[in-house]
Amino acid sequence: MAPTLEFRGVVRTFRPPGGAPREVLRGASAAIEAGRSAAIIGRSGSGKSTLLHLAAGIDRPDAGEVLLDGRSLAALSDRERSLARRDRVGIVFQFFHLLGHLTALENALLPALVAGDEPRAARARALDLLGRAGLGGRWDDPVARLSGGEMQRVALCRALLRRPRLLLADEPTGNLDERSAGEVASLLFALARDEGSAVVLVTHGRELAARADEAWTLHDGRLERA
Ligand SMILES: Nc1ncnc2c1ncn2[C@@H]1O[C@H](COP(=O)(O)OP(=O)(O)OP(=O)(O)O)[C@@H](O)[C@H]1O
Ligand SMILES: [Mg+2]
Repeated sequence: MAPTLEFRGVVRTFRPPGGAPREVLRGASAAIEAGRSAAIIGRSGSGKSTLLHLAAGIDRPDAGEVLLDGRSLAALSDRERSLARRDRVGIVFQFFHLLGHLTALENALLPALVAGDEPRAARARALDLLGRAGLGGRWDDPVARLSGGEMQRVALCRALLRRPRLLLADEPTGNLDERSAGEVASLLFALARDEGSAVVLVTHGRELAARADEAWTLHDGRLERA
């Protein structure tokens, strides 16, 4: 079976107008199988977020390929690429990106709303996830009233709502204190394992990186197995 996500010789060069081109990725290759997790580590500015954007199909490589379930994203039409992102990929950000005036449940349900899923089943799924995230009693609270760790748990429920094959997380615990970070990390790995999703996360934290099945170091535009 094809890996859930594969980077094959990925090159990405940014060309700021009037500035020197910046070769951020120079042939990065790595693959992750369903049910497994990888942590990307590397210095600030090394291209970690760029890799996640490429994996999500938000950005495109200048050379090389990004494959989801064995299919090159470049071979898809724009519409197919958006659908692949919607149906196969869940994303968690450092700063949560929740809608503060909506409740935890409404935030968790947003992907189902966008996709037009059957509302009753989606609601049951969201409530189940929020319960597993320890937020069973908080589903009706506007998220603006939740703590950072609670917000990130809502964001994780939102990302996993539609059972993505691939969960991408960009410094998901970077904005949390040590204890909340540990709780969010445990939840992330537990939920992803239950769902059989592959996980690729970016982190500066050694502890979080050590909890992933593998670690990839991004150095000089290439990925090395640590
Ligand atoms: N859209 C863009 N246009 C121009 N340059 C960009 C763009 N996106 C990223 N870069 C540059 O590419 C390099 C890598 O950026 P990226 O955000 O991937 O780094 P990172 O490893 O995630 O860093 P951090 O740990 O600080 O989040 C940086 O030098 C950044 O300025
Ligand atoms: Mg980054």
